[in-house]
Amino acid sequence: MYEAIQANKDTWWVGVNDHETDLFESLWPLPQGVAYNAYLVNGTNAAAAIDTVKGPWLDEYINKLTQALNGRALNYLVINHMEPDHAGLIAQLKTKWPALKFIGNAKTMPLLKGYHGIEDDIITVKDGDTLDLGGHILKFATVPMLHWPESMVTFDASTGVLFSNDSFGGFGAHEGGIFDDEKNKSRWEDEMLRYYAAIVAKYSNMVQGALRKLGTLEIKNIFPSHGTLFREDIKQVINLYDKWSRQEGEQGAVVVYGSMYGNTRRMAEAVCAGLSGAKIKDVRLYDVSRADISCILRDIWRYKALALLACTYNTVLFPPMDALCSKLLNRTPKNKFLGIAGSYSWSKGALTALQVFAEKIKLAKIDPEIEVFTSPTPEDLQKCFELGLNLGEAIS
Ligand code: FEO
Repeated sequence: MYEAIQANKDTWWVGVNDHETDLFESLWPLPQGVAYNAYLVNGTNAAAAIDTVKGPWLDEYINKLTQALNGRALNYLVINHMEPDHAGLIAQLKTKWPALKFIGNAKTMPLLKGYHGIEDDIITVKDGDTLDLGGHILKFATVPMLHWPESMVTFDASTGVLFSNDSFGGFGAHEGGIFDDEKNKSRWEDEMLRYYAAIVAKYSNMVQGALRKLGTLEIKNIFPSHGTLFREDIKQVINLYDKWSRQEGEQGAVVVYGSMYGNTRRMAEAVCAGLSGAKIKDVRLYDVSRADISCILRDIWRYKALALLACTYNTVLFPPMDALCSKLLNRTPKNKFLGIAGSYSWSKGALTALQVFAEKIKLAKIDPEIEVFTSPTPEDLQKCFELGLNLGEAIS
């Protein structure tokens, strides 16, 4: 991936790997980096770039783009999305190719002006509009909120390539091949779901709308702007997105605890034992203070059962658990079973806060609710075991 890679007929990958950014959006850890995929479609009459990459990768991106252009000028830039990880180099392209025209929809243009001061040489497209490059007719479809209001996708009917931008994207830089048939599914699925849970999940209803809209297209390849390019089993990828956006969870449970001195951790372990007692084989136990919250969100999105256990801190819910609850409320998970438990010493607070959370999140609540004073007694731990057992039975 150190040079432009031909991805389909007249279609080039000109993206870059980022191993230097620690936190995507200054929020989400990138232990395996992230790729910014950008593309070039070389028609017989004109050449169009699809998106750019993040600012610091100017030289590498321009070198690949120039290589793929093979001596031609760049005529168009299709702006599928204005977030700077894809739109970082728009102004620089105009400097290099002054006749360049920008293609976006009505919601793109204020952002284009705001970020780059660009108001000229723009072509505003609507849903279903096309651009004929000669041998390749690009068709545009808006997909609002995937991931911003101006987001759109671009379809090339001659190759069947859907340039899907953030949709179908995943964390993780390219290691070796860039295509799905060049790597094992285990190398991309977890990071794609982690990306979904962190970035896209809030807009799952819109994903369903987009899937319906795109369902009329004869898609043969899906080339997103992050992560793996799909050309082997498109149906599998669309089915994953359908499943995640419908929130059809798998049989399994996530148990998350916040504990200062290990007492609430023991309660969480008893819940896990109850889940195991109900023959649930996929159980994920997370310390909310230490685990990467995007991995917690990923697994909550993956599985049907969730248990949250936390101690009280300064009369309120343990802060890292409060942060997780806030992220969950923002994403509105559905079709899950929820168990809660709190602990306290000199002041109650955690269970009450978790009860309020449970009311707001509207997941199916599983009993018993548990509140423990100081260290859990054997009876307390038995109740936690029962909670795990009941959660397990609910998803069996
Ligand atoms: Fe990858 Fe919403 O930008």
